[in-house]
Amino acid sequence: LIPVLLATTITDLPELVVVTVATENTDGLKRLLESAKAFDINIEVLGLGEKWNGGDTRIEQGGGQKIRILSDWIEKYKDASDTMIMFVDAYDVVFNADSTTILRKFFEHYSEKRLLFGAEPFCWPDQSLAPEYPIVEFGKRFLNSGLFMGYGPEMHKILKLKSVEDKDDDQLYYTMIYLDEKLRKELNMDLDSMSKIFQNLNGVIEDVELQFKEDGTPEAYNAAYNTKPLIVHGNGPSKSHLNYLGNYLGNRWNSQLGCRTCGLEVKESEEVPLIALNLFISKPIPFIEEVLQKIAEFDYPKEKIALYIYNNQPFSIKNIQDFLQKHGKSYYTKRVINGVTEIGDREARNEAIEWNKARNVEFAFLMDGDAYFSEPKVIKDLIQYSKTYDVGIIAPMIGQPGKLFTNFWGAIAANGYYARSEDYMAIVKGNRVGYWNVPFITSAVLFNKEKLEAMKDAYSYNKNLDPDMSMCKFARDNGHFLYIDNEKYYGFLIVSDEYAETVTEGKWHPEMWQIFENRELWEARYIHPGYHKIMEPEHVVDQACPDVYDFPLMSERFCEELIEEMEGFGRWSDGSNNDKRLAGGYENVPTRDIHMNQVGFERQWLYFMDTYVRPVQEKTFIGYYHQPVESNMMFVVRYKPEEQPSLRPHHDASTFSIDIALNKKGRDYEGGGVRYIRYNCTVPADEVGYAMMFPGRLTHLHEGLATTKGTRYIMVSFINP
Ligand code: UDX
Repeated sequence: LIPVLLATTITDLPELVVVTVATENTDGLKRLLESAKAFDINIEVLGLGEKWNGGDTRIEQGGGQKIRILSDWIEKYKDASDTMIMFVDAYDVVFNADSTTILRKFFEHYSEKRLLFGAEPFCWPDQSLAPEYPIVEFGKRFLNSGLFMGYGPEMHKILKLKSVEDKDDDQLYYTMIYLDEKLRKELNMDLDSMSKIFQNLNGVIEDVELQFKEDGTPEAYNAAYNTKPLIVHGNGPSKSHLNYLGNYLGNRWNSQLGCRTCGLEVKESEEVPLIALNLFISKPIPFIEEVLQKIAEFDYPKEKIALYIYNNQPFSIKNIQDFLQKHGKSYYTKRVINGVTEIGDREARNEAIEWNKARNVEFAFLMDGDAYFSEPKVIKDLIQYSKTYDVGIIAPMIGQPGKLFTNFWGAIAANGYYARSEDYMAIVKGNRVGYWNVPFITSAVLFNKEKLEAMKDAYSYNKNLDPDMSMCKFARDNGHFLYIDNEKYYGFLIVSDEYAETVTEGKWHPEMWQIFENRELWEARYIHPGYHKIMEPEHVVDQACPDVYDFPLMSERFCEELIEEMEGFGRWSDGSNNDKRLAGGYENVPTRDIHMNQVGFERQWLYFMDTYVRPVQEKTFIGYYHQPVESNMMFVVRYKPEEQPSLRPHHDASTFSIDIALNKKGRDYEGGGVRYIRYNCTVPADEVGYAMMFPGRLTHLHEGLATTKGTRYIMVSFINP
């Protein structure tokens, strides 16, 4: 034990020189260098700008070029027997320790050795060599060439032993040397079979998990061998798992302190670059009008935006036209495909990329029609993130309100589809905040110029996949990292799953039916802007007559659209006492009306009343609770002189009722109003969207006064019969 302890005192440690080969400055190389820099390790990068002749290492043999480049470089360390050299692959490696820690581990476990390679469970690239490998008691038996270290002379020797072609396989090269017992002994070589220092992830991703020390520092933990490897390599198909670990390791994220690399540098004076904004509407989506409104409100000068719109949905054509009429001229330039078109969504996206490139934009934002951004700074922020974090592809996290469905995947299954990552919930719920390298992003994505260049035909890279999945697969396969950012709330995803059915049911205003799916947008469009005020605790609700409360409830737009739906449906009752729609078949006080259940709006209306009307009742008629509200008499009534102008005095079959004025006196009709006979009190009931709420059965005998001109519409609900 004594020599080991001596050797591990800091002063005795040799110098550690870390080197890699990377022909291109990829996202993977950037990540490697960042992680090393976090531990004050400087990595020498060889081969930048060289043409890669080393083959596609993902699927075939190759990598000999790395040896060729290294063997030129190693010359200067030929006699450096006190220098420790470490080679790491460039594109899929992350550091999680400083030099001292790495060297100490080496001396703790391998003090007698001169060369140490990482190990893996696969005998790659030549399976038939497996039996020739020495047996190991514990740990992985086979050599991996992506991570290794050794003293100068031995490194020199191993790199010069045989001649190599660029296209030869580097792993096979080292393997053949290792399998030669004489050479193995001479070079004093070993494998780090239990991942005390080097962790190759392929084949063992289940064994390697993320842990945090007491001070919050992230660590990789190998549960199979109870070790904490210091350098992690996502070799072969394990790259996605490395991307996940790499979001934390390298001091990127600390469980006490959060994201260590986050935070926007605000440079106000900078010139605003020309960007492209691309919108795709390729399926029926409700509330496109609101989405466009938010786009118009983006905090980015329109004269600096090249606008590309693709819409193949008949229902959204008018929205696009209105938007363009209002704002079209303000944009720098635009291309619009609006309506029935030969061009599919996939082709449109590819075309948009090329159109964006031709406009020479600095950034391109591609968003789908179901991405609703309440934060107008979304593009500005993403650009800033992209610059500050040096990431070329980034999406703002948005999800369906109250659900776990968002626009990213934390992990990907072997079949290429969604898998839930350990941290998915934490990211979605905002318990972990930052920017995350993930396998799939969609709905709204920003590309910087360099990535835009790289994305040619990415949406048709794999035509068996949806366009967004194809783009992400293209990115993954070509080493482009996809980031999702959840540092701020930007908006949400509109729910459109079943909207196609609503649209095809021949409704004029299908969004009216969206109260369950898209409550926030529904409320903003259809609830009266004055409603929330009356719900403030100190606000006293007006009484138009004794115990007849009068308050703003529905927006004018709702009232207009409801009338249009009813007139469009058109099957008004005949006003006689015989009414087949009722259980008894008899109506004592008949009106000309259409019931909510006739237009499939019953469920929605009951929910609406329970959510928005019941609280007003509880505030005014205190002490009465009935939840949820019940009703089977909910209908729109039409009064006109030539049909039925008025209604004789009656009680309602309800505990309380609401009557909502749907149109405007003076403009649409003359006359009207309601008289409460016991109080000899008349309410004009002529403010559009206002509801009159009154007791039904005993005290409030009332009559509908004659409409003398035009048509008056009201919406009546008998609540809790
Ligand atoms: C695995 C082994 O770990 C690796 O040592 C061996 O060369 C091939 O099999 P893998 O991690 O799957 O490699 O491949 P990848 O990381 O894509 O490529 C290996 C390394 O070659 C890169 O990390 C990088 O250092 C270098 N390389 C690869 C380039 O410099 N340019 C390229 O175009 C491709």
